[in-house]
Amino acid sequence: MKILMVCLGNICRSPLAEGIMRKKMADSHVPGEVDSCGFEPFHAGDTPDRRAIEVARQHGIDISDHRGKLFSISYFDTFDRIFVMDSNNYRDVASVARNDADMKKVDFIMNMTYPGSNQPVPDPYYGGQADFSKTWELLDAATDKIIESIRKKNHD
Ligand code: 4NP
Repeated sequence: MKILMVCLGNICRSPLAEGIMRKKMADSHVPGEVDSCGFEPFHAGDTPDRRAIEVARQHGIDISDHRGKLFSISYFDTFDRIFVMDSNNYRDVASVARNDADMKKVDFIMNMTYPGSNQPVPDPYYGGQADFSKTWELLDAATDKIIESIRKKNHD
């Protein structure tokens, strides 16, 4: 299973989602790949936000090697599932989708925790470290469900 995490800047939420997911895939021996990207070019090439690096570090995960990058249309071919953080990200992805098959891959990551709710993972960028901890909690729960769903699929 190849999974893409998408947010706006690719320096806060989606690199955290990628880091958590990669660790859980490794820990639970779930085969696959995970990557992340964004739609805002301002942070392309940047390291994750220091507060994102810090909250990941608190949970034993190093995301400091990540560099921000932009969504590419080719990712619709590369990835099996594309998880967005909020409705802005969803609109951004939808605006470049080529067909229904592309959009079938796209979902709100919070729908893994609360199916059909289309809830956001709120953008912590203008908040403080506590907002990054909240982001972590939301992504930790959602990625547990992603692992569960891959395992179930692999056993069907
Ligand atoms: P992210 O957070 O989408 O979770 O990476 C943001 C990072 C930077 C900006 C916005 C959101 N920005 O406007 O620079």
